[in-house]
Amino acid sequence: MRPHRTRRLRAGVALVAAAAVVTGGATPALASPGTDRHADGNGNGHRNGNGHGHGHDRGDHDRIAQQVAALVAQLTVPEKFGLLGGTTGSNGAAGALGGVPRLGIPTLDMADGPSGVRAAEPATALPAPVALGATFSPELAAAYGGVLGQEADALGMEVLLGPMMNLVRTPYAGRNFETLSEDPLLTASLAAPQVSGIQDHGVIATAKHFAANNQELGRAGLDVLVDEKTLHETELAGFEAVVDAGIGAVMCAYNQVESVQVCQNSELLTEVLREQWGFDGFVMTDWFAIHGPEALVAGLDVEMPRPMAFPELAQDVDGDGQVTERDLSEPVAAALDRAVSGVLTAMAEVGLLDGVGEDPERAVEENAAVARQVATEGAVLLRNEQSALPLSDEALGSLAVVGPTAATPLIGGGGSARVNPDAGAVDSTVEVLEAGGADVTWATGEDLEGELVPGAVLGSGSPLELTGEAAPTGEFSEDVTVTAPEAGTYTFHLQTTGPGAEVTLGEEQVASTQNRFGALGGSLIPTADGFINDSWTVELAAGEQVAFTVSGTGTVEAPVQLRLHWTTPQLRQQRIDEAVSAAEAAHTAVVFGYNEGTEGEDRASLALPGFQDEVIAAVAAANPRTVVVLNTGDPVLMPWLDDVSAVLQMWYPGQEGAEATVDLLTGVVGPAGKLPQTYPADPARTPVSDPANYPGVDLDGDGVPDQQTYTEGTDVGYRWYAATDTDPLFAFGHGLSYTSFDYSRLRTRTGKDGVEVSFVLTNTGSRTGTEVPQVYLGAGTAAGTPTLQLAGFDRVTLEPDERQRVTIEVDERQLSVWDAEDDRWERACGVRPVLVGAASDDVRLTDSVRVR
Ligand code: BGC
Repeated sequence: MRPHRTRRLRAGVALVAAAAVVTGGATPALASPGTDRHADGNGNGHRNGNGHGHGHDRGDHDRIAQQVAALVAQLTVPEKFGLLGGTTGSNGAAGALGGVPRLGIPTLDMADGPSGVRAAEPATALPAPVALGATFSPELAAAYGGVLGQEADALGMEVLLGPMMNLVRTPYAGRNFETLSEDPLLTASLAAPQVSGIQDHGVIATAKHFAANNQELGRAGLDVLVDEKTLHETELAGFEAVVDAGIGAVMCAYNQVESVQVCQNSELLTEVLREQWGFDGFVMTDWFAIHGPEALVAGLDVEMPRPMAFPELAQDVDGDGQVTERDLSEPVAAALDRAVSGVLTAMAEVGLLDGVGEDPERAVEENAAVARQVATEGAVLLRNEQSALPLSDEALGSLAVVGPTAATPLIGGGGSARVNPDAGAVDSTVEVLEAGGADVTWATGEDLEGELVPGAVLGSGSPLELTGEAAPTGEFSEDVTVTAPEAGTYTFHLQTTGPGAEVTLGEEQVASTQNRFGALGGSLIPTADGFINDSWTVELAAGEQVAFTVSGTGTVEAPVQLRLHWTTPQLRQQRIDEAVSAAEAAHTAVVFGYNEGTEGEDRASLALPGFQDEVIAAVAAANPRTVVVLNTGDPVLMPWLDDVSAVLQMWYPGQEGAEATVDLLTGVVGPAGKLPQTYPADPARTPVSDPANYPGVDLDGDGVPDQQTYTEGTDVGYRWYAATDTDPLFAFGHGLSYTSFDYSRLRTRTGKDGVEVSFVLTNTGSRTGTEVPQVYLGAGTAAGTPTLQLAGFDRVTLEPDERQRVTIEVDERQLSVWDAEDDRWERACGVRPVLVGAASDDVRLTDSVRVR
């Protein structure tokens, strides 16, 4: 075991991840999010007397301040700057901060990420954060954070680069899978206990990406024009909640806000974060985010992954051969001490300054249980006609299963959030179904592998297949010309091992299996024999030629095995025919659809990629009992919706996804997740349908957006649909159950600190189930409030016929609007409708309250 810090325990807080038990769809003993926004799942609220709860009392706070001040006084100026610039980390860390051994200041190794610790060694692959969002469960968020903290600690990481808590603002954004939701209250309610769950293990959590990093297109430098009211009431809510929960680090984003790079935006980094919210940890850049030396005074503390602009400040101005305080201007000297104090305070608050101990072991089984529970409880049943789900014994005795992700699980999204699970931890859904006794015929449908492009259509006369001895061990480049034998859609597949390769068509890179963001590029779904696969599609006329170049660099230790496959129009039809035959012969068909959300790019279309829509439509035409399981990180269009019996959204379900999927399909567990993002019915009618709003305006003509305006204001997500009376495909908060719930006897009581909403919830079905009742406020006569606003929710498990009076506290913040003149929250007075129901479009009870 390597030497390690001893983590200081907070009294009463268990160090192991909260043990999770998969029950009949139940999450036991949930904290009410309305009442205790900062609950850590152990019933410990983190609010304390000083207004921002850090889990420390005043004595602790003073002791930490003294300890930090004493250390700062002993540091030389070069040592101080040394603490503010990244360096290479160990065990696959994304970066590190070197410590100061002579003063007992430890190194901080920093690992991504939001859905599992991304290290050289394997870790538990949790479901994508969007699945956690769909649980609406602060308790599961605490357990999820507990896994991240426990494993970061075990893998030698002191900083976890998560959670991501940017709001889902556009359905196109590449990282929608990696964040929690489109709603500020839901995001805040889940992020805060998650952060406590991480930090309870002595690991510093990082809130990212502060702020308004809501899309990938043009993210490096995109100028986001957004007013203060909008920022405070939407995007900033989650960040404020985690500062309140005592988060140690904040990562500033790549983009600009109001024409200033966020990493040197003093309004955000100093006024909002430190002065308004009382943040006392440190702000680090996103990796290589743009900023200049003035960023230090503006409020940036740490440059990652290496020193960039700050060394310019550490010059020997007086020429005495050393860099000392005398060489610094007063504002720089003050900012330097602030920055170093922030780093040391974050360390002290999680116990990292308290000495060296040993890493714990990963709690592999307990953590896998949490992964499974979140995957199960975050699943959303979008449609279920004639109780198609759960599958009957008859269905399980004759089941056609279609789609690549049924056989090769899609456990997570792409980019820096990708996790490397333990060998053997991930099972295929088809195998788990079969192991449970189901009689399954699998067909791929959408063909991600294709077949070797034959020599007969290639200019070279022989297939491009450089495998075995032929695998390149140095630089290589192959010009390829293909002649289409018939007209139609051709998908080419570049398949490689080792360092990978890229395909360029003219100037454009159309495929790459090389590293991106420290992660393997290409599709998230490898070939059956373990090659990384990346595809691109072209329309060709009969006899038309297409020319491209395949290039890369192998090494003797890591040769690039490479082959070029394609899916021709003929093969496409054959795959559809196979899926149809399997469906025709079976009692029930289950088709798995997928998309591949990833950092670094947005989706070009909301449709399922490839020919998946055609496959689903053909299978549904062949078998009236067709169920669709979605492995997507965000909304997709469903042109076949009316023709299928059921749709189950499993998201990217992590390493336990197959087991969770089968539990839900077979009814071992009932679904209880709710959509944390709205699913648009029409891509032309979304909150971001105006190009100035999304993707933004390309000012310099380089094809990348440079500036955008949040024209929807505070009407992010479902609020916009309500304000414009636009019907979505599936509304925010929607999610069906295998049982049914009745809502009755609504009471509202206005108090000094908010509104108490209570009602009776009854399980009127025949099986135990969990419901997420939601409380919304309408605008009513209050000025400056959204047309519809989530104001509280709970998660309640009831047995058949069981009834419970549920009480949800709508707190002061939900009744307030941001006053940009005075920089403070102010009650929005007036009569406001109170709407209680099972989804934002499924209101069962209404009342109104007078807010004074
Ligand atoms: C991402 C961050 C990530 C960092 C380090 C960046 O590209 O935006 O979310 O933490 O890389 O991997």
